[in-house]
Amino acid sequence: MPKITFISADGGQTEIEAKNGDSMMFAALDGHVKGILGECGGSLACATCHVYVDEAWADKLPPVSELENDMLDATACERQPNSRLCCQIEMSDALDGLTVTLPASQL
Ligand code: FES
Repeated sequence: MPKITFISADGGQTEIEAKNGDSMMFAALDGHVKGILGECGGSLACATCHVYVDEAWADKLPPVSELENDMLDATACERQPNSRLCCQIEMSDALDGLTVTLPASQL
């Protein structure tokens, strides 16, 4: 099971294990990670699952779709080059060790 480390805006770290095939958003909700809301359930309609992906992992993730790209313009905190909506990232063993930073707010 791949592990994900979430770093909060104040520097606190939470490590969870995800099931292969689950989105990172569902894994975060299952793991009670504070700072991921996922209000739309992963249908790319809320942008409350915004994360900043650690640079080392940027090339290992699927590309940003057109719809995700549009929704990334609606995040509560400023979009950055490494911004992703984590409901669009399917977990697999290839992503074991993935590290992301949470924005200060999702709303
Ligand atoms: S959960 Fe709504 S866009 Fe990701």
